[in-house]
Amino acid sequence: MSVGRCVVLVPAPYQGHITPMLQLGSILQSRGFSIFVAHSEYNSPDPSNHPSFSFIPLPDDVADLDKSFLNSLNVLDAINANCKEPLRDFLVQMMENEKLHGQIACIVYDTIMNFVDEVVNNLQLPSIVMRPNTAAYVRAHHTVFQLLAKNCLPLPESQMEDDVPNLDPFKYKDMPLPLSLEMPERVFDFMKETYEIGSSRAIIWNTIDELEHHHLSMLQQIFHVPFFCLGPFHKMAPPSKTSLLKEDNSCIEWLDKQQPNSVLYVSLGSIVAMDDKEVMETAWGLINSEQPFLWVIRDIFANGAKANAQLPDGFEEIIGERGCLVKWAPQKKVLRHSAVGGFWSHCGWNSILESISEGVPMICRPDFSDQFINSRYVAHVWNMGLELEGPLERGKVEEIVRRLMVDEEGKEVRNRTIDMKHKFQESVEKGGASYQSLNQLTDFISSLSS
Ligand code: UDX
Repeated sequence: MSVGRCVVLVPAPYQGHITPMLQLGSILQSRGFSIFVAHSEYNSPDPSNHPSFSFIPLPDDVADLDKSFLNSLNVLDAINANCKEPLRDFLVQMMENEKLHGQIACIVYDTIMNFVDEVVNNLQLPSIVMRPNTAAYVRAHHTVFQLLAKNCLPLPESQMEDDVPNLDPFKYKDMPLPLSLEMPERVFDFMKETYEIGSSRAIIWNTIDELEHHHLSMLQQIFHVPFFCLGPFHKMAPPSKTSLLKEDNSCIEWLDKQQPNSVLYVSLGSIVAMDDKEVMETAWGLINSEQPFLWVIRDIFANGAKANAQLPDGFEEIIGERGCLVKWAPQKKVLRHSAVGGFWSHCGWNSILESISEGVPMICRPDFSDQFINSRYVAHVWNMGLELEGPLERGKVEEIVRRLMVDEEGKEVRNRTIDMKHKFQESVEKGGASYQSLNQLTDFISSLSS
């Protein structure tokens, strides 16, 4: 019996990367492809959430490495080196398997897993790159490389507020790295490796053409392969669980008791964290704002995440009924809940797509990487959020929460987010841009031959 054409996915081992890759798997499966997920053992996805996918753990030999955020690059380097052979062996087995012979349509990989390029080239298999971030973020890489080539880095601190030429509306401070600081050369090399697409035949984006048309067209002049924008993936895919951490659903019962649009959801994704002082200032700011809040305070969790401070003992009683605290929330369900009226976010791209998809306006508090670009888009270009800059201080927190949740300004921001939500819906519906792009991608993958 034949399994039909197969797509092998190679996700990067972080929540914000695994989620869109698994969603893409569900999208492609709905178009008839059999899905294989070849993943590192580190931060491996839970196969029971996708019983119809085949999961292949690739021995990565990183168990003994330091998994703190600051050591992430060393962990990724080791994974890129150690997973090469296991992936090759698995693909060779597939190619030699009678049932699967000739059925590998392509390998889709996250650009962070750049070892895949060498493996597929040796085996003469076609590959496609999946980018989980925005086109603007990829263009920002180019800016960094140009500055590096001209020996301009680090930049003076005074230049960080300036606009980047030819990258409207972004500023130097929005770039993927803090450009005023010295950086090890390896960081720039890694950026280059993840920017390049090797011999890949196409790029799949978790973005929406209408949002990023200009940046996508500019990139099309650099990467001469077809682009497929299928965003937001989670609205194109049948719903599925993709969390690495256990979701605490008790917060949904708490939300059920709150008034419509009254609750601020506070979550910094899977990596960003607050220190002790920031946790306390945020807690008092939220309490003083007198708005109900649902706050995700992750455990001290070292797998590629920053260590998160916890509230001191006894503080839950002070918060009382005003707030609900969880260690990890079912975020998409939370954002869909009618009680949620705002989202304090670190501006991870998945979080932004999920928030806009439910018409929930944001308080933007970016921390690193693509989050500054995403925040500028949300707060200054699309006007779907307010930016919280500078040190966290309770008075500032109280003020911005009220601006978003109570003031007229917040209502306008919400209305704009709801308008965009409708555009997202149109995009994924039959005839919409993302839907059409998926049709084209399905034909494209079907036409690939190894
Ligand atoms: C990382 C980067 O930080 C981000 O900037 C990049 O765009 C993708 O990779 P992360 O920080 O985890 O991701 O943020 P984000 O992209 O928002 O992804 C987090 C995911 O975890 C979201 O899909 C969100 O729904 C989920 N989540 C978060 C939960 O399910 N529960 C939570 O409590 C918090």
